Amino acid sequence: MRVLCVGRPPLTQNAGQAPKKPDNQRAADGAVPPEDPAMSHNPNLPALPPDRLEPVLAALRASGWGVFPDFFAPELMADLRHELWGRAEQDQLRPAGVGKEGQRLSAVRGDYIRWLNGATPPQRRFLAAMEALRLRVNRELLLGLEDLECHFAHYPPGAGYARHLDSFDSNNLRRLTVVAYLNPQWTPADGGQMRIFDGEAVIAEVQPRSGALVCFISEEIAHEVVATQRHRASIAGWFRVRPLTAQADALGGQVLAG
Ligand code: OGA
Ligand code: MN
Repeated sequence: MRVLCVGRPPLTQNAGQAPKKPDNQRAADGAVPPEDPAMSHNPNLPALPPDRLEPVLAALRASGWGVFPDFFAPELMADLRHELWGRAEQDQLRPAGVGKEGQRLSAVRGDYIRWLNGATPPQRRFLAAMEALRLRVNRELLLGLEDLECHFAHYPPGAGYARHLDSFDSNNLRRLTVVAYLNPQWTPADGGQMRIFDGEAVIAEVQPRSGALVCFISEEIAHEVVATQRHRASIAGWFRVRPLTAQADALGGQVLAG
């Protein structure tokens, strides 16, 4: 599986960036390295038990979306959280952009991101779990998913992400969205919920609690992130199909003939 890295706009100095020193709120999260008790130092832990994918496949078949509260092992989430907060403190996150031009519009989207590239053991375990999902989805739902692009996301207090679809036009190759949450404790009063819509109706409100996976068909499921009251950590990813020209090449150019 290829993991893609996409260029980001330059960071403006400390623009709403995570505080350099742990503040009280982050300490209360248990989210600051190196004090996270759930962290694992065993890189050989299996990323995914064998039966973990059944409900995901069933939900995608039935409705095109699903929420799975204990999908990931707590140790893996703790390791990823530790990595994310460490990178935030080292100024390695960048303000996320919106749309094809990657413009910064913090009224639309206020998170800070860093693309995964498989550089660390926790990232590789996460990507291995997602690869198992990709293979299974391709085998059973025939989506032809080719690769995964995914990033860490830090939403500082006040940040959210307005209602959107992840696949915004016909050129977009994103087909299946995955979001993994890294926050050990979360209550409804903390905000930061992901809302899933059916038309104007909210059909799910997901607390971004550690271990949870949200998975949905990118072109179909509108969603938003309610403004968060606390530092909020997640990984968002998109499985993509190959561009049509590449598919045509693979078929010997037949699709483009005429
Ligand atoms: C996204 C997104 C949701 C979340 O990054 O496109 O919708 O809950 N993220 O972090
Ligand atoms: Mn989204």
